[in-house]
Amino acid sequence: MTPDEQKRAAAAKALDYVTEGMKLGLGTGSTAAHFVDLLGGRVKQGLGVICVPTSKATHKQAEALGIPLTTLDETPSLDLTVDGADELDGALNLTKGGGGALLREKIVAMASDRMIVIADESKVVENLGAFDLPIEVVPFGAGATVIMIEKLAAGLGCKGPVTRRKTASGEDFITDGGHYIYDCAFGVIPDPVALDSGLNKIPGVVENGLFTGIAALAVIAGDDGVREIKPA
Ligand code: 5RP
Repeated sequence: MTPDEQKRAAAAKALDYVTEGMKLGLGTGSTAAHFVDLLGGRVKQGLGVICVPTSKATHKQAEALGIPLTTLDETPSLDLTVDGADELDGALNLTKGGGGALLREKIVAMASDRMIVIADESKVVENLGAFDLPIEVVPFGAGATVIMIEKLAAGLGCKGPVTRRKTASGEDFITDGGHYIYDCAFGVIPDPVALDSGLNKIPGVVENGLFTGIAALAVIAGDDGVREIKPA
């Protein structure tokens, strides 16, 4: 199976957890897009669900497929969110935000009774950190915020360049919420839980891409088929 076929296989398996009448959170990224596509097929066949997308891109995709949509204002608690990840470890700590949607993704996941992560085998790691950690930062005072991030991270054994994300045309990448993303090349993150909570105490940090203690199940597809991981 190619990585893309693995992503689709994981998405297809996650669909088994969706039942009639569910309120769903829809993730962002290429793996989540497979899930939305397959869900759209089930909706066409008559499945009744209502969904909250985690980005403008997912909103557009779901709308085009005729998936009924709502907001967290109208529907503040959801049954299940299905989303991808950039990395995940055996405790189901995740790094997310490669697509820049980490804030909405975390809000939607936390508003859900359950989060299922879907991924191809390449995303499973022993320790988070090979993928640069995205942090969403308010533009005001961003330079000072970065210094606070670096200081906190160094105290938790994480050192490395912290770089403002740019678009392909070289402009600042701006999130759906109007913020910057800084990608942090920390290498191995020894204590994701401490880093997650410390980062979110810095005033200019809106949210960070570490999802700790949120995912209940991971559905992972590899060459040998699909397997499930529960938090260790
Ligand atoms: C977007 C995300 C995505 O879930 C993550 O980047 C994985 O993307 P993909 O499924 O394309 O590999 O967190 O903010």
